[in-house]
Amino acid sequence: MTNRDFNDLSNFSSIWTDSIVNNKQPDGEALITYLKTVHQHHTGFTEKCASTCRDKTGLNSYEWLAEIVPDIDGTRVLDLACGSGPLLKILYDRNRNLKLTGVDISPEELSLAKARLSDESANLFLLKAQDLKTISDSSLDVVLCHWALTLMDPIAPVLNEVRRVLSSGGKFAALVDGPINAAPGYSDVHDLIYGYVKAKIPNYGEIDLGDPRIRNSDSLSDLASEAFPKATINIETNVVSMEGPIAEVTKTAAGFFYASFVLPPEIHNIMLSKLSNLLALKNQKGELENQGRFAMPISRLVIKN
Ligand SMILES: C[S@@+](CC[C@H](N)C(=O)[O-])C[C@H]1O[C@@H](n2cnc3c(N)ncnc32)[C@H](O)[C@@H]1O
Repeated sequence: MTNRDFNDLSNFSSIWTDSIVNNKQPDGEALITYLKTVHQHHTGFTEKCASTCRDKTGLNSYEWLAEIVPDIDGTRVLDLACGSGPLLKILYDRNRNLKLTGVDISPEELSLAKARLSDESANLFLLKAQDLKTISDSSLDVVLCHWALTLMDPIAPVLNEVRRVLSSGGKFAALVDGPINAAPGYSDVHDLIYGYVKAKIPNYGEIDLGDPRIRNSDSLSDLASEAFPKATINIETNVVSMEGPIAEVTKTAAGFFYASFVLPPEIHNIMLSKLSNLLALKNQKGELENQGRFAMPISRLVIKN
């Protein structure tokens, strides 16, 4: 984890943002370049946000996704878009005899992953999910993807690559956000942040990161069935939340929204202040307290090959 404040944001001008300003769908390369820049400047921010939010049984979203991996020595697992490696670390700490691999496009995120996982504990590669060239056909038992499928466009080659590398009987499980109304107050947080972003880039939201079909359970299920016609497909919903000092809760909530990265610092600070009013708990007189709460809907797609 870098010690940089992940919400001390500057706006990233890029081919990807310029395309949106001009109401054009950016291509896959522009998206990758943009994501690499965001992760270069804010390395480790996903882990910082996601590891602090827990469901009612006490699991964070990494632990909930990790449940899919059987605790059997030698199970071969790929973490697709592993980022700074928190999911791989959870798996390694649970069973040191798993065969773990992680791939990501961000060299900075992979450096963090390498710092926490030795060469013996996981193989880490700088690779695009659309082209897993160093991974052999049918060589994996489980492929996981935590909070990254929504960023991938084109998505069809990603699903085709997952199908290629999975063994028969293998599983693909992906953690994505949503449905938007499954957690109390989440749509208000979304609308507030997107309100500020749209004031700067009106088309942001109509055009967003990744393939929009991943953001909706029905279209996600359809996509999965197209790529895995003979597989069993299941999508479960859960809610993770955090409660704590209002400044911390506000930063964490905003950190889940890539859209907030386009806000210049002064507007970002105004947005944070409005967001903190939204998330602050109220006392019996209706006054805002110094504590806040944020709840986030998550879904777990599981495909059994
Ligand atoms: C929201 S972060 C999630 C990181 C990690 N899975 C976690 O949850 O902590 C998204 C990650 O996806 C990676 N990524 C985005 N598009 C990718 C692609 N096409 N191929 C591989 N990695 C990608 C980014 O570099 C980033 O590390």
